[in-house]
Amino acid sequence: MATELRHNPFFRARLKLATSTIILPICGAILFYFIDNPYLYISVAICIAIIAYFISLFALRQIRNFMRSQKRFIADVSHELRTPISIIKTNSEIALLNEANTPPEITEILKSTVSEIDRMSKMLKNLLNLAQYDKETHELPMHSINPGEILSRITENMRPLALKSGITLAAENHAPHTHIRGNTTAIEELITNLLTNAIKFTKSGGTITSSITLDHKEKIVTLFVQDTGIGIPADKITRVFEPFFKYEYPAIGNRQKGIGLGLAIVREIVKLHHGTIAIESASNKGTRVTVRFPTI
Ligand SMILES: Nc1ncnc2c1ncn2[C@@H]1O[C@H](COP(=O)(O)OP(=O)(O)O)[C@@H](O)[C@H]1O
Ligand SMILES: [Mg+2]
Repeated sequence: MATELRHNPFFRARLKLATSTIILPICGAILFYFIDNPYLYISVAICIAIIAYFISLFALRQIRNFMRSQKRFIADVSHELRTPISIIKTNSEIALLNEANTPPEITEILKSTVSEIDRMSKMLKNLLNLAQYDKETHELPMHSINPGEILSRITENMRPLALKSGITLAAENHAPHTHIRGNTTAIEELITNLLTNAIKFTKSGGTITSSITLDHKEKIVTLFVQDTGIGIPADKITRVFEPFFKYEYPAIGNRQKGIGLGLAIVREIVKLHHGTIAIESASNKGTRVTVRFPTI
């Protein structure tokens, strides 16, 4: 048990934090009781504060390393699971090809298996993305990229999906020559996630407007995606960036099946690009997500 605890990084970190916040101040208080000289008194206090600072620093580093190795583990597991899952999917699809000679209840089971496998693959892809965009664990190649061009391209790709849901999609690029230092795939993923959410949470007849503008003075490019959708309840808005947080709206029904990783991934991508993200929403009026990046 004692050995187990010694190897537990959280226990070691907690021990260090306890030393710096409780044991050291108590030692200091005992020492002060015996010291009369004010100079010595101040010097001992400064030494104790410095030692406490470094011990806390080591404790935090230990927690950070532990979290890093956990994220790597999640990424590796997600990666390894992709091949067996795609084999199961292919096998189920092959079995489905023989529908005419298969009892209907088995066909139903196979169809539901394929749909659950699709969901699982999506979750694994998102988990991998979340780990991949983590600034602490991975270095993504960064280049000079044009976010306005990416917005126009992704909007065109998503137009059929919006049309299918009866939603009008508009994109305004007011900064056609602006570049940021970034990763194209990551920014594509960010815009796709924001537009997918906007489409998913807007009823037929709604509008989605996205725009890119440039603040010349501050050298900041602002991207926003605004919808006229269902809006996020005030008590849920602070939680939407948490991994696996999802809130399903009864009014929209089946269309919204998600995993709750989209906005967590978006937030990591924003951090990776030294940007900021804000979300404003009002129930039954709509949602506006604003992302700001420094330009180059
Ligand atoms: N544009 C939006 N309108 C309304 N709700 C939204 C919008 N974007 C995000 N949300 C809320 O935030 C939650 C988390 O979003 P996300 O991380 O993308 O997960 P998912 O889309 O998989 O549910 C969603 O379940 C939804 O409740
Ligand atoms: Mg989403």
